[in-house]
Amino acid sequence: EGGDNPPANKWSFSGPFGKFDRGALQRGLKVYKEVCASCHGLSYVAFRNLAEPGGPGYSVAQATAFASDYKIKDGPNDAGDMFERPGRPADYFPSPFPNEQAARAANGGAAPPDLSLITKARSYKRGFPWFVFDFFTQYQEQGPDYVAAVLQGFEEKVPEGVTIPEGSYYNKYFPGHAIKMPKPLSDGQVTYDDGSPTTVAQYAKDVTTFLMWTAEPHMEARKRLGFQVFVFLIIFAGLMYFTKKKVWAASH
Ligand code: HEM
Repeated sequence: EGGDNPPANKWSFSGPFGKFDRGALQRGLKVYKEVCASCHGLSYVAFRNLAEPGGPGYSVAQATAFASDYKIKDGPNDAGDMFERPGRPADYFPSPFPNEQAARAANGGAAPPDLSLITKARSYKRGFPWFVFDFFTQYQEQGPDYVAAVLQGFEEKVPEGVTIPEGSYYNKYFPGHAIKMPKPLSDGQVTYDDGSPTTVAQYAKDVTTFLMWTAEPHMEARKRLGFQVFVFLIIFAGLMYFTKKKVWAASH
């Protein structure tokens, strides 16, 4: 049995001219760092990416300072030993567990998935012919809507007739309703310095926006180029129309 349908959100990044909300990306990074990172990796994202155009908008100096807060395992050195050193811009976010077995063992048998691509991995396509309609409607938003919903879908009261096994938690939107992630977010948990509300709903939207960026860091450039291609094609079609008229005109 599946989960309930996730409610649709208004995302700044949706549509052909969609852009990431810089504030949301910066707040979402903070939520990831302070809450999600203890269980979930972000192994496709490097600290230097935080200073790239189309992202959270940090300077190289800020990304470097952010990286240096982390301890990165490195080695072996000349003596053959492994060691830890402060992070550098070229390092990737370190994963919380050394391997999948350790991740499972610490989480009741379910490994917390790497979050780099989760907003893409949790978008789904319906079968033929319905995927045709998905393409024209909300296809891009399915993954983010689901991730935001799961983060807000924990409920104390388990509905009549649903049994949740020991070590699992009831979640309205998780397929099967029994998830092994404990409710990660609560109101006031992460401080924001831009005055945004410190609520579960806001945290969920911000971290989901951030995870949409990690999954598609070049989205803004892609959409810009796509628009330019359309403009070119329209102008080119006009030129071809008049060229055709001239070439095929009756000669006299
Ligand atoms: C699963 C996001 C915090 C443990 C997941 C999933 C997402 C997610 C999207 C996948 C659900 C699915 O398979 O459809 C997040 C975010 C977090 C966060 C954004 C921070 C706000 C945590 C924390 C823990 C944790 C702090 C550990 C205490 C897990 C586990 C699973 C999971 C064990 C696998 C659940 C299962 O398959 O039953 N999380 N998570 N998560 N998460 Fe988290």
